[in-house]
Amino acid sequence: RQADIGLVGLGTMGAALSLNIAEKGFDIAVWNRKSDRPHEFRKQAGELGARIHPADTLEDLVASLSTPRAIILMIPSGDPVDDMIAKLRPLLDADDLIIDAGNANFHDTIRRTADSGGPFLGMGVSGGEEGARHGPSIMGGGKREHWDRVAPILEAISAKYEGAPCAAWMGESGAGHFVKTVHNGIEYADMQMIAETYGILRDGHGMSAPDIAPVFAGWNEGVLQSYLVEISAKVAAATDAATGGPLLEVIVDAAGQKGTGRWTVIEAQHLAAPVPAIEAAVVARNLSARREERATGESLFGAAPKPLPEGALEPALLEEALICGKIMCYAQGFTMIAAAARQFGWTLDLPAIARVWREGCIIRSAMLNDMADALAEDPDRNLLFAPFFAAHVKRTQHALREVVSMATAHGLAVPALSSGLAYFDQMRTARGTANMIQGQRDFFGLHGFARLDDGTTGQHGPWADAAANPDDTSGKQ
Ligand code: 6PG
Repeated sequence: RQADIGLVGLGTMGAALSLNIAEKGFDIAVWNRKSDRPHEFRKQAGELGARIHPADTLEDLVASLSTPRAIILMIPSGDPVDDMIAKLRPLLDADDLIIDAGNANFHDTIRRTADSGGPFLGMGVSGGEEGARHGPSIMGGGKREHWDRVAPILEAISAKYEGAPCAAWMGESGAGHFVKTVHNGIEYADMQMIAETYGILRDGHGMSAPDIAPVFAGWNEGVLQSYLVEISAKVAAATDAATGGPLLEVIVDAAGQKGTGRWTVIEAQHLAAPVPAIEAAVVARNLSARREERATGESLFGAAPKPLPEGALEPALLEEALICGKIMCYAQGFTMIAAAARQFGWTLDLPAIARVWREGCIIRSAMLNDMADALAEDPDRNLLFAPFFAAHVKRTQHALREVVSMATAHGLAVPALSSGLAYFDQMRTARGTANMIQGQRDFFGLHGFARLDDGTTGQHGPWADAAANPDDTSGKQ
C-alpha cells in the first residue's frame, strides 16, 4: 500500500505531526537525515507503526507515496528548506506538492512558491509539540487547488473548535506563513502583557509566585480565558525540584526568541501598519537579554520605588487592564493582516483567520471566537470599533489607564500595556498633534500641508516666502 503523504524531518514537531497523521487513519512515509531514525520511530509508535512507512533514502520516500505526491517538510527554516527542495524536486513529478511546515520567513515562501520548480505550499503550524501531536492550528498558503488536495488530511489532524477544523487556506503564496508570523507577534505581546501584570503583583504587591498562580487561574475563568493565561498560572504554581521553592523564582529573567516577533515588527513597518504592542514586546525581550547592563543601571540609579500603596492596582483592576490591553494588541494584529492583504493582493479572510486561532494554537482564547464574529460583521473595521469590543474597552479603559499611570509612577515597567493605552488614546482622538509635525516639515523642507478650514493641500507657511527671500530672517533656516 502506498502512503497518503510523506514527511521529512522527525524532530519533535515532525514526529508529533506524523503520529497525529497516522492516528487519523492516513498512511505516512517518513524520512530523516539520521538514517536509522525512521525505523526506530516506527517501532516506538506502537500500533500506529502499522501506518508509518520508514524510508531509508529520499528516493525510497518518493517511491512509497501515492500520486500526485505530497511531502511535508518539518525541518529548520532557512537554507535547509532550500537545500531539501533542491534534493527532492529532481525526484518528483511535475505535479507533486512540497509543503513547508516550519516557521519560515514568508518572504522566502513567496520566493519558493514562485521559483521552487513545482507545486509548493507554505504552512504555519501552531501549538507546540502537544498541538502537533493532538491537534494544531494550521494556516496554509499557496495555490488554493494545492491546499484542497491535502485539506482532508490537514483538517483531520487539526484542532477542532466545536467540531470546526482549525485548519484553513489563508490565501495565496506566502499568506500562510505571514499569518503564522503575525500570530507569533501577537503571541509575544500577549505574553509580555501577562508578564507585566506578573511584575506588578510580584514587585508592586510583593506577592510570591505561588500566591500569583491562583490570580492567573482566576482570570482564566473569565473574559481572559486563554491558553497563555492558563499556562502562566501553571508556571507560577510550579515547584523547583532542586530547591523546593517556586520554580519561577529561579528562572533567569532573559527572554529568548527565534525571530518571528521581530519579523512581524519589521513587516509592520514596511506595511505602515502600526503594531506598537508587538513592537514593545520585542523590545522588552531584547532589553531583558541585557542582564548585565540592567544590573549596572540598578547599581547606578538605585532600584525603582516599586512597592505600591495599600489597595492600589488590585488583581481585579489588573484583569480589566489586561482585557483592554489585549483588545488593543489584537486590533493591531488584525489591521496589520488587512494591510498585507491589500499590499500583496492575498485573500486573507480575517474572520477565517480568527476562527483557525480559536483552538490548537498558542494564542487560543475565548475572545477569539468573539473576534471572529466581530470581523465577520465587518472585516474592514478596526476590531476596537466593533460594538462588542468597544463595549469592553469603554468598561476597561479606565483600569488600563490607572494601571499604566500607577505602575509608571512606581517605576514598574509596563511597556506593552502602556503602548496599548497610547494606541487607544491616539485612536480615540479626532484632532491629534501632527499639525505641528506638518508645520515643522514645511518649515525645514517646504513639504506642504493641508488646511483644516478649506481642505486645500500643498499649502505653505510664511517661512516659504523667507526661503524665496533669504534676507528675511523670520523664516526658514
Ligand atoms: C507556536 C509557536 C511556535 C514558536 C515558539 C517559539 O505557534 O506553536 O509560536 O511556533 O516557535 O513560540 O517562539 P520564540 O522562540 O520566538 O519565542
